[in-house]
Amino acid sequence: APVSLWGGRFTGAPADALAALSKSTHFDWRLAPHDIAGSRAHARVLHAAGLLDDATLEAMLDALERLRQDVASGAFVPAEDDEDVHTALERGLIERAGADVGGRLRAGRSRNDQVATLFRMYLREHARVVAGLVLDVVDALVAQAREHLGVAMPGRTHLQHAQPVLLSHHLLAHAWALLRDVDRLRDWDARAAVSPYGSGALAGSSLGLDPEAVAADLGFTGAVENSIDGTASRDFVAEFSFVCAMTAVDVSRLAEEVVLWATKEFSFVTLDDAYSTGSSIMPQKKNPDVAELARGKAGRLVGDLAGLLTTLKGLPLAYNRDLQEDKEPVFDAVDTLEVLLPAFSGMVATLVFNTDRLAALAPQGFSLATDIAEWLVRQGVPFRVAHEVAGACVRVCEVRGIELWDLSDDDLAAVSEHLTPGVREVLSVEGSLASRSGQGGTAPVRVAEQLERVVAAVGRA
Ligand code: ARG
Repeated sequence: APVSLWGGRFTGAPADALAALSKSTHFDWRLAPHDIAGSRAHARVLHAAGLLDDATLEAMLDALERLRQDVASGAFVPAEDDEDVHTALERGLIERAGADVGGRLRAGRSRNDQVATLFRMYLREHARVVAGLVLDVVDALVAQAREHLGVAMPGRTHLQHAQPVLLSHHLLAHAWALLRDVDRLRDWDARAAVSPYGSGALAGSSLGLDPEAVAADLGFTGAVENSIDGTASRDFVAEFSFVCAMTAVDVSRLAEEVVLWATKEFSFVTLDDAYSTGSSIMPQKKNPDVAELARGKAGRLVGDLAGLLTTLKGLPLAYNRDLQEDKEPVFDAVDTLEVLLPAFSGMVATLVFNTDRLAALAPQGFSLATDIAEWLVRQGVPFRVAHEVAGACVRVCEVRGIELWDLSDDDLAAVSEHLTPGVREVLSVEGSLASRSGQGGTAPVRVAEQLERVVAAVGRA
């Protein structure tokens, strides 16, 4: 029969079906290193409170260290009968230290405060890993932006040609979004850095333990203010999961652009062979699978978040076993990002841009019409009139099948007396780009400054 933690008031063992339902070692085992670190800290506060003598503390720490090594080497793994990571490790401790020493560690703690603490430790560790991987994507964007400073491309709204922009400006727009995701992880960490240890099952501990000491020992900034909140709250999981989902959604928007850019019709980029796939039947194919998987996995991370929030909705205080369902979705989010982001940054770093084509398309689709209107405004023409006049230029061009810069001085004058030949200074991509020189604009000087600001932000992150 399974060894259980609650023998006293039970006469029989749990049904096999219950044990099968209850079991979580197949997914919570990854918390084992944090559980052992937590046990070490807990042993020390028990000792500080006079509940373990020096020799017992030493024997316990020694057994925990041997257990840590055996977990790391794979010599100790959960047994069929172990319910969760905490049960398995208590068995491992008792096997190494004996029941008298090993059986003392559970005093003053519950799996409820234990799991809430370990989960925070695990997520804080992975928040750093994920942030590093997001910054690798930002680095790849910065390198591409730096290499292509000065290259124009069609800027789009509604996916239609809108105004010329610099390719670097466009790439850095993605970089800023990703930097905010890294910022979110940092903000989250400040809230998550509070230790629930000492909350016990829900009401706190009567044993004179010092939760602040455990918190400091485990790298937290302090202990929770409320033991019910400490054991029952999982907003730290949902918030972390939101940041993961937001990151994947941000990545998916660039991914979708890469999918479009790699088509025959766009021909804006060529994917490196190392980051594209072929077809088993069509010999000519080169597919953007990395970008497609990024797009697809964003949906999966949104699902992870929705699942978590649904588990939490309406859940009464304090701990309920439903909360065991908090782990798989966020582990999935972490695992997904940790496998996706390295491939994605590699793909971005190795994109080859067809700069001639990007530059040639930049002014097409009458994307300089706004420049005519704004030039007129600078000549003192009211914008409503300027917009009409520029629109009339487009109409003439459309009818004659020509571009705006093909209009002769006479053509321009025929459209409006305000359209003197001076308007030609903005009827080029260079003129248009240079004119957008306000803060945040696409003028080459502004984008060059912006690039250095992104680099500085990466340095601070
Ligand atoms: N494995 C549980 C979880 O992940 C922790 C154990 C708490 N179980 C209990 N019956 N109080 O949430």
